[in-house]
Amino acid sequence: MTLRILVLHGPNLNLLGTREPDVYGRLDLAAVDALAAERARALGAELSARQSNHEGELIDALHAAGAGGADAVVLNAAGFTHTSVALRDAVGAVQIPVVEVHLSNTAAREEFRHRSLIAPVAVGTIAGFGPLSYVLGVEAAIAAVQSR
Ligand code: DQA
Repeated sequence: MTLRILVLHGPNLNLLGTREPDVYGRLDLAAVDALAAERARALGAELSARQSNHEGELIDALHAAGAGGADAVVLNAAGFTHTSVALRDAVGAVQIPVVEVHLSNTAAREEFRHRSLIAPVAVGTIAGFGPLSYVLGVEAAIAAVQSR
């Protein structure tokens, strides 16, 4: 059976490419998704991607993924990483692996970015590799499903 990976992008990531390019790079979201999809395909998985600026929509998307919509999730919760108990609870509630990714190395940035509410409930975190974080996230998500 083909594994289905959902890549879920949080707030402001729709602006990728023009948003603080020195921090987040010059590729837009579609280009990042294409890189991740290419890796998924090469590993025999299929990828769908979704972005929302709304906490509730991200929570609904996680619930839908956990209810049979996907086998694993690659999640960049963006700013909600550092603030959202509700999103963290959604990650903790679903029974499928969720890999946390960030484009930037959050540990090397402002203090408020050092704490992730998602990290303790994710299978692991990949940060600091730009778009490659998503590619590595897809690999990790597939490995996490296969090792279950
Ligand atoms: C981010 C890091 C977060 O701190 C920030 O709020 C983002 C993007 C990243 O991918 O590096 O929006 O998740």
